[in-house]
Amino acid sequence: RVLRGAPRDLAGRRVVVSAGGTREAIDPVRFIGNRSSGLQGYALARTAVARGAQVTLVAANVSLPDPAGATVVRVESTAELRTAVLSASAGADAVVMAAAVADFRPAERATSKIKKTSGEPEAIHLTKNPDILAELGRRRAQHLGRQGPDTGQADQLGGVHQSDGAGQSGRAGQPSGVDQSGGADQLDGVGRPGGAGQGGEAGRLGPEGRSGGAGRAVPDGGPAVIVGFAAETDDVLANGQAKLVKKGCDLLVVNQVGERLAFGTPDNAATILVAGGDPVEVPRGPKEDLADALWTLVAARLT
Ligand code: CTP
Ligand code: CA
Repeated sequence: RVLRGAPRDLAGRRVVVSAGGTREAIDPVRFIGNRSSGLQGYALARTAVARGAQVTLVAANVSLPDPAGATVVRVESTAELRTAVLSASAGADAVVMAAAVADFRPAERATSKIKKTSGEPEAIHLTKNPDILAELGRRRAQHLGRQGPDTGQADQLGGVHQSDGAGQSGRAGQPSGVDQSGGADQLDGVGRPGGAGQGGEAGRLGPEGRSGGAGRAVPDGGPAVIVGFAAETDDVLANGQAKLVKKGCDLLVVNQVGERLAFGTPDNAATILVAGGDPVEVPRGPKEDLADALWTLVAARLT
């Protein structure tokens, strides 16, 4: 269905999509992971191919067939995902971080399988993973001569946020909305990549000798359009808006987790937050519909 009548508005564009969920090894047989199936990222890759893009799909632990026409790079850990995404992003027009990236990894990986002992088990100490999306935003912002989105303020917030403890399971209950929107307010106007004006900035600095100009990949600064995903609970839109600003992305797809949506299902419903613009509601439907709505917004920012 995605092949018939698809607009060719991504013809000549190179896009990078990450999909699935990263795994962090505890020992040779165990890992910390998450429930991401990769379905949304794969739908994004398929629809982008159908719209004419050259697609690199960085897939973390996904058991789905390779989408026809896309270059697939398979990774396991966050470190591997980061390397693959940053390398594929060089010279790309857009990057969409649909992967669920582990926020933490075990500080040490046991070289042998951890065995049961008679006493209580040892605690697994965690350390923070790099934030790939924020890094992409920061690189671009630095390249454009602006202050990066993830400043000291944001780092402090990260620390506060993380202090809640070991798990992703901890986040629903913590007052992250308050922390994050406070941080975002402080960053607002500094870290924001500039919304509507951003495409123009990228265009003015656009690659010499490449046709098209406006909205093309920012040379050495990475893709012109940076897209994040966020699964939120509680104050979904406020959390999403804070995340958009903090990470310096152009578009942020905010899923409401729960009601059997998002994880592992063929359907999705989301709000796409737009830097410098109004949010776009995508009603519940196949993940291809959300993908197409997103590519339409990406294509608009590339022209
Ligand atoms: N992301 C990333 N690198 C990380 C964590 C997240 O690139 N280490 C990306 C995800 O791929 C996604 C976006 O950032 O596109 C938002 O992920 P999310 O987990 O919602 O954001 P976090 O900043 O990790 O905040 P939270 O504490 O709510 O998990
Ligand atoms: Ca996270």
